[in-house]
Amino acid sequence: MYPQVLLKNRKKDRILSLEEYREMGGYKALHDALTDESFHPRQIQELLLDAGLLGRGGAAFPTGIKMKTVPDDAPHPRYLVCNADEMEPGTFKDRVLILTSPHQLIEGMILAAYAIDAEIAIIFIRREYETAARALEQEIGRAREAGYIGKNLFDSEFDCDIIVHRSAGRYICGEGTALLNALEGKRANPRKPPPYPTVKGLWQLPTEVQNVETLCCIPHVLKNGVDWFKTLAVSKTGAGTKVFSVSGKVNRPGCYELPMGVKLSEIIEDYAGGMLPGSRFKACMPGGASTQFLPESMYHARMDFDDLKNAGFRLGTGAVMVFDHKTCLVEATANLMVFFARESCGWCTPCREGLPYILDLLNRIEAGEGEVEFIPMIRQMCSHMNYSYCAFAPGAAAPVESLLTYFEGEVMAHIENRGCPFKIGKVN
Ligand SMILES: Cc1cc2nc3c(=O)[nH]c(=O)nc-3n(C[C@H](O)[C@H](O)[C@H](O)COP(=O)(O)O)c2cc1C
Repeated sequence: MYPQVLLKNRKKDRILSLEEYREMGGYKALHDALTDESFHPRQIQELLLDAGLLGRGGAAFPTGIKMKTVPDDAPHPRYLVCNADEMEPGTFKDRVLILTSPHQLIEGMILAAYAIDAEIAIIFIRREYETAARALEQEIGRAREAGYIGKNLFDSEFDCDIIVHRSAGRYICGEGTALLNALEGKRANPRKPPPYPTVKGLWQLPTEVQNVETLCCIPHVLKNGVDWFKTLAVSKTGAGTKVFSVSGKVNRPGCYELPMGVKLSEIIEDYAGGMLPGSRFKACMPGGASTQFLPESMYHARMDFDDLKNAGFRLGTGAVMVFDHKTCLVEATANLMVFFARESCGWCTPCREGLPYILDLLNRIEAGEGEVEFIPMIRQMCSHMNYSYCAFAPGAAAPVESLLTYFEGEVMAHIENRGCPFKIGKVN
């Protein structure tokens, strides 16, 4: 059993109360940071950088570096935004983290706000997560009464309040800059940096956007130290734990907190209860719908940002979606494309026009109407996705590109058989 950090105090049917959180050392990191006169807020940035904390929202950007891009003389108010939009298909870790211990997130947010001297913190939460939003509102109220949120925290000069804001309900709202437009009440189209949000973000003021899981790590790094955080990982360059949300053809789908760098085979066999009876592993998406399919040759791969990147894949959000040998990956990919084509904000042409085009070709292949030349046509359209405005389109192209790279034979079998081999009985 690996050490549990973020999900350590997970209760079966309820959230961890403020009193329980305090009993297990909660709010100590915040207390110490704010009452130690020799401790400068900027030291939080250094600690997070040294600890190797990478953003858990999908892009794996170093949190300490992002904080450092807020200029010292930047104007006020400054904002910290917690990204709890979580609309990436397959990803459900942030909801579990919030409903496990809202105060862990609240403490992480206040510490992150302190690090950049932000006086307003906003939780931008997925509209469907109403239970989690209400739990947060209630616990924010309790934290305020207890003096962890508000003015002159711990008799310092630091003020910080937290607001919960329900998302506008589209996948693109989770993209860091589209989120800012959504918060401003505008249509949620992405913004093209520079300037980056940490310089000109919400209402043109410095804004740091961080994922729920990233923020939850912060109190633990401050309390237990940089070396402790690094040694939680079992990969060469990774640090900390990772909350994997596992779904698909496994016996025990769910959220598992495991060391960064744990092997995929270990997640599936030792935690998710192995493959379903009669199912054999065929492929999995390691980090949500906008990551590539990992083929069977990657079954023992280390689930770490660097390890997967070096092998040409992305860990993304750590949402492991497992497919078995009876699943048609053309159909599965077309299903993902339905989502992406619908959720495209329509702002730039490659994404708006390219995704329905790819979906149409995949649907025709699946229906037995595919032609061999569809494969280079799809490949070419996927390459256009890199010329889009934000990371949505390259993410949407990732499963398609990996389908053609690792499962071209399966796609060809659809074309040659004039139908889906899984539907016309050519696969057992
Ligand atoms: C289409 C799209 C949707 C995204 N949705 C989310 C989301 O729901 N939650 C999230 O934390 N990051 C999401 N991101 C990533 C954010 O843009 C951003 O990188 C992240 O919130 C930064 O936090 P982190 O550094 O802590 O990971 C999304 C990105 C794209 C392109």
